[in-house]
Amino acid sequence: MESGTRARLVMSPEVAELRKRYVTKKKADLLEQTIGDKRLPKNNTKFNFAGIMAASLPLIILTGLQVYQEMQEHGYSFEHFYQTHFGSGVSSTTHKRPDQLKEWGGKVLPNGYKGDGIHRRLRLNKNEYLKLYDAKWPVMVTGVVKHWRAMNWSAEFLYSYYGQEKVTVKRVRGKSKTANEVIVKLEKFYKSRDNVSTERWALTEDSTFFYRNPELTMDIGKFEYIQENLFGRFPEHLQPWEEQLQWGTAFSKSTLQMDPYNRTSLHFVLSGKKEWKLYSPGHDAYLYASARPTPDMPLRVLRYTSPIDAFSPDYSRYGLFRNAVAMDVMQGAGELLIIPAGWYYQGRNAEDTLAVCVGLMTENNHDTVLEEILKEGHVEEVHLPENYEAYAPEEKVDLVMSLMPPQVIEAAKLIRKEALRRVSRSRR
Ligand SMILES: *[C@@H]1O[C@H](CO)[C@@H](O)[C@H](O)[C@H]1NC(C)=O
Ligand SMILES: *[C@@H]1O[C@H](CO)[C@@H](O)[C@H](O)[C@H]1NC(C)=O
Ligand SMILES: *[C@@H]1O[C@H](CO)[C@@H](O)[C@H](O)[C@H]1NC(C)=O
Repeated sequence: MESGTRARLVMSPEVAELRKRYVTKKKADLLEQTIGDKRLPKNNTKFNFAGIMAASLPLIILTGLQVYQEMQEHGYSFEHFYQTHFGSGVSSTTHKRPDQLKEWGGKVLPNGYKGDGIHRRLRLNKNEYLKLYDAKWPVMVTGVVKHWRAMNWSAEFLYSYYGQEKVTVKRVRGKSKTANEVIVKLEKFYKSRDNVSTERWALTEDSTFFYRNPELTMDIGKFEYIQENLFGRFPEHLQPWEEQLQWGTAFSKSTLQMDPYNRTSLHFVLSGKKEWKLYSPGHDAYLYASARPTPDMPLRVLRYTSPIDAFSPDYSRYGLFRNAVAMDVMQGAGELLIIPAGWYYQGRNAEDTLAVCVGLMTENNHDTVLEEILKEGHVEEVHLPENYEAYAPEEKVDLVMSLMPPQVIEAAKLIRKEALRRVSRSRR
């Protein structure tokens, strides 16, 4: 836990100004005022990563060097491997899933699988990402996040600027190991991080924190591999919460789960170290997975979760879990883990770790996401035109959204409002 020694954040005048404006303004007013209208300039709300253009300039320059580096790096023939197992031109996990299931689910492992199925790629280039990994295979990308201003966030920085902000924290206290959720001031969480063990840990799992403190998203860079996060096309009230702050003590861990909407998720570690266990699509039975509606997602969808702790499984209860094949990977500061649509995952913090995660809808996973939405019956499928399948990804999204009945939008407004109220009302 050396985060205390990290440099303080140096703010550009532009960010300092914004920060001052937001931090000094009464948060309560701000909340009331923003329910139902926009808080940030359009281009910030539109895309999940409110990028500062200046911050991404060095990246653009570096892209020139990438092709060369990729070639050097590519001694092993993953391309060949990919072609053999998935074929080319895969554009949707929905259609491809049964094949993946056969080869990767269970213990039927493809030739050459050595138990380290996750590639670590230095500044992976965009074409390769879209072709080989997007909505298909997890990948750990190094050398992207390190240019972000958020890399300079430290425990002390968050404590001194945001100590009075409330956060939703999942924590375990005592032998029962059952996690419960509390809403506390960030300063309380900060101070509780010293005395931790397998029976005493805490993890912020707060979907609204960045929404309530939008100036922080200016420190988060742009995800350069995709042009548009299609969630940005959802009407404002129906959009899922944007980035989630995951600040965890050593020993803290997430549930074994899949992202809601079966969407792709991006996990950025800013400081610390995280261990992961990933399970390819088709593992539901081995994981004893079940589906429940998400309580605080504005547009209700199912969330698939497993009751198993993959890091210390209870085989006497969950015998079939022996058949599950985990892909293990360790993530360090400055690395980005991309988990494709339909994969189960669980993360555990090996030390005090600051991370941000984001949900993603791209042209390669939009069918899965839309199918999950349609499944919930918000929109009658009979209203979809016959040639729906032939629509472009953005058109499909726009179409499904245009068919959302007013009561679904009203419900979403209420859910958003309630999620924000719950945090602001907590007395702790
Ligand atoms: C982080 O802070 C240091 C000074 O403390 C500064 O030189 C550096 O540019 C900052 N990094 C980013 C990505 O903003
Ligand atoms: C540290 O945690 C243990 C339980 O794991 C508790 O009994 C003890 O009081 C805690 N110490 C402090 C200083 O909080
Ligand atoms: C989402 O994942 C669940 C659990 O594996 C699966 O049953 C469901 O079919 C997936 N949805 C789509 C649209 O592929």
